[in-house]
Amino acid sequence: MSVRRLAEEQFQPAGFSFNPENATWAEATIRKYPAGRQQSAVIPLLMRAQEQEGWVTKAAIEYVGEMLDMPFIRVLEVATFYTQFQLKPIGTRAHIQVCGTTPCMLRGAEDLIHVCKSKIHPEPLHQNADGTLSWEEVECQGACVNAPMVMIFKDAYEDLTPTQLEHIIDRFAAGKGSDIKPGPQVDRVFSAPVGGPVTLTDAIQPIRFSDTPAPAPAPEASVPPAKAAKPVTDTPETDKSAKTPATAPAAALDEKNRPAGIERPATPDDLKMISGVGPKIEATLNGLGIYTFDQIAKWKKAEREWVDTYLKFSGRIERDDWVKQAKALAKGGEAEYIKVFGKKPR
Ligand code: FES
Repeated sequence: MSVRRLAEEQFQPAGFSFNPENATWAEATIRKYPAGRQQSAVIPLLMRAQEQEGWVTKAAIEYVGEMLDMPFIRVLEVATFYTQFQLKPIGTRAHIQVCGTTPCMLRGAEDLIHVCKSKIHPEPLHQNADGTLSWEEVECQGACVNAPMVMIFKDAYEDLTPTQLEHIIDRFAAGKGSDIKPGPQVDRVFSAPVGGPVTLTDAIQPIRFSDTPAPAPAPEASVPPAKAAKPVTDTPETDKSAKTPATAPAAALDEKNRPAGIERPATPDDLKMISGVGPKIEATLNGLGIYTFDQIAKWKKAEREWVDTYLKFSGRIERDDWVKQAKALAKGGEAEYIKVFGKKPR
């Protein structure tokens, strides 16, 4: 972790005071604490100062110290200890805090840092050319089970790949960060197993986001093969999970853009080697007659869009570039994948 110091004098404004609304809020916050314990309000007051100014200035630290009757050094200690407080100007649209602690590092945090270096600035805590983005490495953010992850202001974005982070940065740079739903960026709920529960499945129902209606019971029948494929007569057991997602209507099975399916080969490819494909999505693809890297490598845009309607989180085929991954795996397996992407497939 880097040493945290106040910004150089040339960045520091001459003074600070809460605007009327925040001043009223600050007084009410201080009154929540018993007499003589007002200093307990130091963190909420510093956070409110940051929200007002964009970062914590030296003048704001002094102002908060006076409000709480605290020595300047005590407020400074708090502000410089917590990485939630920004001590110099940061990106106005996003400040990406990449967790670089061991679990995230083992799961690819270094690749995420490279993305920040190439897309924002080679150095941490520097704004990009138009001042909209900045980044830094921070210590554990308490989401290790969803490693690797980043924080952007108050939201965590988890289970990231470099491609996904590039996409997230692009959306924030365009002022459309709200398009990205915080939390896991793969097919899992919070920190539940990827692809859904694997134990006690007959005893409990999967937890779902409260704003997502529970899915209707899915039909037992598997999805029939594409019209270009020979009919699949021996339906694999895993096909039972190839269900139409409840959250969005899936494209019609007889649409012309449906990619050609095949019968299940004796040794189907392990599609889970493609980043972004977990056991559940693999079962969905198999149910659509997709069993090999070669099939995915040949998907055209319209076909990718058709398959996307069968995935719970749309856009992942493009974000994770399944076609490029599948091309490498079809051409030379793991060795070719490493040659192309500089790392092992999942
Ligand atoms: S190590 Fe990254 S969130 Fe804990």
